[in-house]
Amino acid sequence: MSQRLVIITGSSRGLGAALAEQLLAPGTVMLCLSRGRHPTLSAQAAAAQVPLEEWPRDLAHSIEVADEVEAWLRALDAQRFDEALLINNAGVISTVGPSDGSTSAELASTLRVGLEATILLTAAFLRATGGWRADRRVLNISSGLGRRAMAGSAVYGAAKAGMDHYSRAVALDEAHRQAGSVEHSGGRSRAARIVSLAPGVIDTGMQAQLRASDSAGFPSKALFEQQHAQALLASAEDAAARILAYLARDDFGSHPVDDIRRS
Ligand SMILES: NC(=O)c1ccc[n+]([C@@H]2O[C@H](COP(=O)([O-])OP(=O)(O)OC[C@H]3O[C@@H](n4cnc5c(N)ncnc54)[C@H](OP(=O)(O)O)[C@@H]3O)[C@@H](O)[C@H]2O)c1
Repeated sequence: MSQRLVIITGSSRGLGAALAEQLLAPGTVMLCLSRGRHPTLSAQAAAAQVPLEEWPRDLAHSIEVADEVEAWLRALDAQRFDEALLINNAGVISTVGPSDGSTSAELASTLRVGLEATILLTAAFLRATGGWRADRRVLNISSGLGRRAMAGSAVYGAAKAGMDHYSRAVALDEAHRQAGSVEHSGGRSRAARIVSLAPGVIDTGMQAQLRASDSAGFPSKALFEQQHAQALLASAEDAAARILAYLARDDFGSHPVDDIRRS
């Protein structure tokens, strides 16, 4: 049976919870990171005989969490896995509205969870698994708001734009590394693949937060209300299924910045 390692952030609810549930399959070892716990994931994992670690962690403390994950990865049997996946899904909008309406602590936390933790976890994952034989993939859950500016979401959008550009550059680093590895090892590919993927509009707590925000600081509030009223939001389950099909594709990584609506 094929052996797969999965690390996923923001697995307690919303899209991350649906992704984690659908990733529970025999042969998988899973590490989940969020402050809260998914209400039923451990029971589902036990039923599927999937070894599951759920670490209650605040990703705003990104250095400590990334160091801990790296140490955990280094203690695993490197030759055991055929696939190793990191899904940076956790994200936070904090206060919707102009950034000067938020405290410095709120703004820093949004950036730490959305961007800093993504970068530190990706680097830790690539460092720790560099010598593994596994097919290594990093999926960063981005947003259209990182590509199209929207009033009221400047810091959230900045974190996602940073995530996109980081992913583009890491893909180049990995391609460069692969070219060197081909030169020095006679063709063995060790490059990891990475994609920053906009997941579409999904019916989660984050959307509810946008609809509940004050329109004075968020002129697009009506658009989100309209999309909800017209039932245009994907369920977390459907979005997760589409994203996992994308993650499994042979050409994963060919577009380091992508949108599920184009796939
Ligand atoms: N919903 C959409 O329409 C939509 C559209 C585009 C992009 N996205 C992206 O999709 C991803 C998932 O969003 P969602 O809609 O599922 O949001 P959500 O329902 O609000 O869930 C967010 C997840 O992130 C975790 N998280 C937040 N702050 C955290 C922290 N400090 N430390 C650790 N984990 C933290 C939460 O867990 P805890 O609170 O338990 O820590 C939760 O599991 C996000 O990256 C979001 O930007 C969503």
